[in-house]
Amino acid sequence: MRGPHAPPLRGSLPQDGEGTRSVPGPGADPAWGGPAPDHRAPSTLADHEQKARELLDPTAWAYLFGGAADEITLRANQQAWQDLHLRPRVLQDLSEGHTRVNLLGRTLAHPILVAPMAYQRLAHPQGEAASALAAAVLGAGYVLSTQASVLLEDVAPLVLGEPARGPLWFQLYLQSERDRTLGLVRRAEAAGFEALVLTVDAPVQGPRDRERRSGFVLPPGIAAVNLPPPHPAAGARGSLFDNLLRTSPTWDDLAWLRSQTNLPILLKGITHPDDARLGIEHGAAGLIVSNHGGRTLDTMPATATLLPDVVAVANGKVPVLVDGGIRRGTDVFKALALGATAVMLGRPVLHGLATGGANGVAHVLRLLIDELEIAMALCGCSSPDQIAERHLHA
Ligand SMILES: Cc1cc2nc3c(=O)[nH]c(=O)nc-3n(C[C@H](O)[C@H](O)[C@H](O)COP(=O)(O)O)c2cc1C
Repeated sequence: MRGPHAPPLRGSLPQDGEGTRSVPGPGADPAWGGPAPDHRAPSTLADHEQKARELLDPTAWAYLFGGAADEITLRANQQAWQDLHLRPRVLQDLSEGHTRVNLLGRTLAHPILVAPMAYQRLAHPQGEAASALAAAVLGAGYVLSTQASVLLEDVAPLVLGEPARGPLWFQLYLQSERDRTLGLVRRAEAAGFEALVLTVDAPVQGPRDRERRSGFVLPPGIAAVNLPPPHPAAGARGSLFDNLLRTSPTWDDLAWLRSQTNLPILLKGITHPDDARLGIEHGAAGLIVSNHGGRTLDTMPATATLLPDVVAVANGKVPVLVDGGIRRGTDVFKALALGATAVMLGRPVLHGLATGGANGVAHVLRLLIDELEIAMALCGCSSPDQIAERHLHA
């Protein structure tokens, strides 16, 4: 079952995207016969963001970049990583260094996964097919959104066919009717997805003012193609609590979901230690500390500040992941120092998609992996399990 947008991507990545260690620099010196340097080529994730902003339609930018309300949480996420300071050790043995981590029973090449994000064809015509392939080639785990704009059956083979790939997970929003939820779960299982990421922090969409001001609407041809058409009652007007939230998910639904599938279920959007405790009691295989990239409840604290309490509750029983505002290899390092097993990367992936499709996403991931290696070396850590709170300046 191939959809109309499935692209012939395999093999289209440059050598850099296939496991070499160097980040493409400004180019070889022309005096030695190499290509002239392209000083406009992105060298950082921030460069990709700037270029994406120039390239994208302003209303699409408002959707892809924006946060909820005054975007206080959106800004805080990035700031909080920057506010943590590193405390390196010197003259450590760095031979045989690596970035490998263990997550849910498998070894990942590095601790970076791509976060689930809706409607990626807004950023590039190949959308999720391009970001998934790039993630797989770079060994990054990939989480496909329930609201993806490419069929899940078209995305899965692109990832599963890559020998260096990381895990392939399906992000699930519980639907108002259980048979609709089950339909998605069965399709994800059949397509080869290896875990479910149940997003629990968005029973309703946050008020995204920037997006509304821009007049954003989904352009024709871009839709949540994996979802069945909405139930006729879904558009009913009236109080939020009388309509939509009458069927909003509860802990009982997690118990039900567990009874329906053998796939491990990670909870995304856990920020309170009591919810972390409940999640573990209900059999979650992992917890993802997330405030939805500042897109749901504005004025929530940054995830960097919420992470330690959740790590303390998890206490090694289940892995804890974190996302929100990660833009540098040093941010990844700090997340691991605070006890995360891995991080998820959101908007920078969309920026890479906008600047260069699969190649752009591969470049974003390559930059972040290389920056992580540099941060580890400069802090005196030869493997992620050596990264600890002592590397943070109190
Ligand atoms: C455009 C966009 C769409 C998103 N769609 C989803 C989604 O469908 N499901 C979900 O669980 N999270 C969604 N998220 C949240 C991300 O998974 C992630 O938590 C967040 O982007 C991380 O923060 P960062 O963008 O600062 O890295 C979305 C985020 C963005 C920016």
